[in-house]
Amino acid sequence: MINKLTLKEISSVARIHKEELSGFLPELGEEFLQAFYKNSLNIPEMFTFIDCENDHICGFATGIISPKGLYKKIIIQNKILFIILILRHLITHPFQIVKMVKILTYPGFSDDIPELLTIAIPKSEQGRGRGKKLFKQIANNFQKKGINKFRISVYDRLPSNGFYKRIGCKLENSFEFLDEKMNYYSYNI
Ligand SMILES: CC(C)(COP(=O)(O)OP(=O)(O)OC[C@H]1O[C@@H](n2cnc3c(N)ncnc32)[C@H](O)[C@@H]1OP(=O)(O)O)[C@@H](O)C(=O)NCCC(=O)NCCS
Repeated sequence: MINKLTLKEISSVARIHKEELSGFLPELGEEFLQAFYKNSLNIPEMFTFIDCENDHICGFATGIISPKGLYKKIIIQNKILFIILILRHLITHPFQIVKMVKILTYPGFSDDIPELLTIAIPKSEQGRGRGKKLFKQIANNFQKKGINKFRISVYDRLPSNGFYKRIGCKLENSFEFLDEKMNYYSYNI
């Protein structure tokens, strides 16, 4: 069953994000992700759906209507906590400071185009149609808000490129981010 994310599923969502998605945010740890998703509940233009079966979370997906300034909107809600979590990470990974600045100022968000931010299904639940169901739910929610097209950005190396192509996303362009090739797809609802 697909539902909107509530406080009680935050820790499961953070765990799935950390386990299934690579990239910088998961590197910051589950505590960071928990605070990220908790604060996202206070951002009206951001929404997360979970796929839930017998109280077990079998995946989630997040969309955002207006990504501009996303990290600022999230961090400002608990400045001290985020500063502690970021500093704690930088103490153990000092060379990642440049990477962190680049992520927090990610240029893709400045376009302010509606975007599917994340979608993740635990390995044991993949290949059962759950990703497609969550993707469609995100598309329906965008449509309800009067949006008929949204974007997805994905590292070229990830198998999920195949998933997006299969469900009808169109490759718009590619660019380099953090020395890696990234693809922009669009989906017309
Ligand atoms: C990508 C992901 C969300 C797909 O979810 P899923 O539940 O496994 O996919 P589904 O079972 O809903 O598949 C829907 C369709 O896409 C196809 N598909 C799924 N993964 C695919 C892949 N890697 N390559 C090609 N096609 C794929 C399926 O065969 C299915 O096709 P069909 O409709 O013809 O039967 C999931 O594998 C995942 O969470 N991966 C790890 C996290 C990740 O990479 N997320 C995306 C970050 S950008």
